[in-house]
Amino acid sequence: MSKVAIVTGGTRGIGEAISLALQDLGYKVAANYAGNEEKAKAFTDKTGIAAFKWDVGDHQACLDGCAAVAEALGPVDIVVNNAGITRDGVLAKMSFDDWNEVMRINLGGCFNMAKATFGGMRERGWGRIVNIGSINGQAGQYGQVNYAAAKSGIHGFTKALAQEGAKYGVTVNAIAPGYIDTDMVAAVPPQVLEKIVAKIPVGRLGQAHEIARGVAFFCSEEGGFVTGSTLSINGGQHMY
Ligand SMILES: NC(=O)c1ccc[n+]([C@@H]2O[C@H](COP(=O)([O-])OP(=O)(O)OC[C@H]3O[C@@H](n4cnc5c(N)ncnc54)[C@H](OP(=O)(O)O)[C@@H]3O)[C@@H](O)[C@H]2O)c1
Repeated sequence: MSKVAIVTGGTRGIGEAISLALQDLGYKVAANYAGNEEKAKAFTDKTGIAAFKWDVGDHQACLDGCAAVAEALGPVDIVVNNAGITRDGVLAKMSFDDWNEVMRINLGGCFNMAKATFGGMRERGWGRIVNIGSINGQAGQYGQVNYAAAKSGIHGFTKALAQEGAKYGVTVNAIAPGYIDTDMVAAVPPQVLEKIVAKIPVGRLGQAHEIARGVAFFCSEEGGFVTGSTLSINGGQHMY
């Protein structure tokens, strides 16, 4: 029977490419999203992948959302924690809400989704969790104490949960993307982006499908001996 995968923030950007890569592996995919109905509808029309709306920062919404996916597609075997936001600003200008919202969604979302699905994976003796971190969680970034802290936390979360899952056939890994050509990066002012690209040794932004390939490997049968690992896909910008 084909595996069931949930990709959070799976209807656009990197998440869309991940949803498609997992569909290509023959998995039944559910793509979660937060509220962009237009993108979600266009995504489902194009791919045939069902979209499920909930806020990954809301604990109960994750429990209910994962139960709805299980009801529709079957028990959840794979979770890709991809949903994420930025609320940039230097510390002096960053509000508590900007801090809290990024922690709640980017890091809290990983906890909430794991709480909803890890037990079932463990009981069935097979599971894959992939968390999307960031180069800025590894190296830090000016004006991003919230985002860097949340993403750095994801890398610790990954290593800790990997230890709990290993003997039950559940792997937990992370990917740390560099700068990828999506709406999130389109929000960076062009003059700042130009300076960023100048620091990428391969000389360009990454593409969403290049991150999705890494996720597909972690989620494959052949990825079963890899756990607690972070794969950097960043064009050589940060060699960790
Ligand atoms: N792009 C980059 O250069 C880059 C680099 C490193 C790491 N990353 C990480 O990669 C991931 C994807 O980034 P991206 O560039 O593809 O982002 P994006 O284009 O901004 O898309 C974000 C996705 O997350 C969803 N989302 C946001 N908040 C959510 C919430 N509370 N609950 C459920 N879904 C939520 C959005 O749903 P709606 O469509 O409904 O809004 C959307 O599908 C993020 O975790 C990001 O931090 C990106």
